[in-house]
Amino acid sequence: MIRRLVALAVVVAAVGTTSLAGAAQGHRSRPGSADPPDPYFPLLGNRGYDVTHYDLGLSFDPSDGALHGDATITATATTPLRRFNLDLVGMRVDAVRVDGQPARTRRTGGELLVRPAEQIPARQGFRVRVRYSGTPQPRTIPGIGAPNGWLRSDDGALTLNEPDGARTWFPANDHPSDKASYTFHIDVPEGLTALANGTLTGREDDGGRTTWTWDAPAPMATYLTQVVIGHLALEDEAPVDGVAIRHAYAPSVRADAASAAAATPEMMAFLSKWFGPFPFTTYGVIAPDSGVTGLAFEGQTFSVFAPDVFGQPREASTVLVHELAHQWFGDWVSPASWGETWLNEGFATYAEWLWADATLGVPIQRNVDAAYSGVTAAPNRSATHTGRSSMFSSGVYQRGALAVHALRVTVGDDTFTKILRTYLGRFGGTTASTEDFVGVASEIAGRDLGSFFTSWLGSGSPPPLPSGPQSAGASSPQKVLQVGQA
Ligand code: ARG
Ligand code: ZN
Repeated sequence: MIRRLVALAVVVAAVGTTSLAGAAQGHRSRPGSADPPDPYFPLLGNRGYDVTHYDLGLSFDPSDGALHGDATITATATTPLRRFNLDLVGMRVDAVRVDGQPARTRRTGGELLVRPAEQIPARQGFRVRVRYSGTPQPRTIPGIGAPNGWLRSDDGALTLNEPDGARTWFPANDHPSDKASYTFHIDVPEGLTALANGTLTGREDDGGRTTWTWDAPAPMATYLTQVVIGHLALEDEAPVDGVAIRHAYAPSVRADAASAAAATPEMMAFLSKWFGPFPFTTYGVIAPDSGVTGLAFEGQTFSVFAPDVFGQPREASTVLVHELAHQWFGDWVSPASWGETWLNEGFATYAEWLWADATLGVPIQRNVDAAYSGVTAAPNRSATHTGRSSMFSSGVYQRGALAVHALRVTVGDDTFTKILRTYLGRFGGTTASTEDFVGVASEIAGRDLGSFFTSWLGSGSPPPLPSGPQSAGASSPQKVLQVGQA
């Protein structure tokens, strides 16, 4: 699925002109430096510590876009730390304290270097408090059209962090390899809603401002943190299998968005039959009047959609199920590196095909054949390790989904679902690599699937497709639903 962001009401500026390679090598080998370096983003992530919790105080002024941040990061040293790095791009750092003591700091490129007054012993917990302010500047990655980071909208803001935008609005160990729990306290002018991941635990009015507190206890990758500020009405629905459902809509999109989101319980039940229980305690569809188009993103515990997604009911249904599937593939199990986004997008795309087959009258073979032709026409487009500028290219989505289908028809539905559930169970709350997935698949199938996956995921002409389920609902665990026949 192509995500486009056009007509964006923000000035897009690439921040940090420091050469990635040059900045990385300066402190790669020292404790607290960038490691493990991501193949695509050598500066993302830092070593020497493990973050357990982010407490993010954010105060936003929609009239001028100014953000004041007060972040307390709780971490554990994994090695004695004389200094350590956080990822932060732009913004002015006003004060940094480590365990209450003022710390020395330095900025280079996207790194905030912190030197505490005293060395932190290995295995010791510590707290870093960073007060900062400024106007967050979204980033664009060459070759990927959409800007990411903190984006201003007509009446507020929304974040789109994948892959490296979180560091434009809070100091972070900005790589999926260091998941943590979060608390958000977002202070906005009264009358605006401020949403973040997890559960709403507080809402206080004071002097014309409202502070919204959200608690997200499940381990979460930085790129899945999500803030949405605007004129949004929260709408609670009946829980689904114990999962609290809370949507939020801007008035202008409410009608179309609510009618699409009404299928959420069916979608959750449908995907649960393939993937196992929904991994979080809350979920919702968030539809701000964002001023952007083509946006759909899988924030952990809720997905965010641009208004145009809801224009066509069948399209909307497909996009909604794609982002919902990411809660399992991407959010609960996140990619070990940015070279492996097929582990997110291949499965989310396959979920679309399953859903379309079961409910929209589109036989899965039709999607399989279309993807197979696309892959055959561009055999050099691999699904994995595509290079940074192609990390969201069609190869990742289509060839990735085709590999999932090839696995399914090769091992059969029972083994296939057992593979998925074992993988999710084993790596849930953390990250996984392609090797991890292939390992689980081989283990459950009882044979080495290494070369099978190399041929389906790598570049080169795909192998002949094993034949599989041909017709609507043939092997899907649910009957056809009536979903918005547009
Ligand atoms: N994960 C998103 C999806 O559901 C795509 C995000 C693309 N990110 C970006 N910066 N363009 O397909
Ligand atoms: Zn996706």
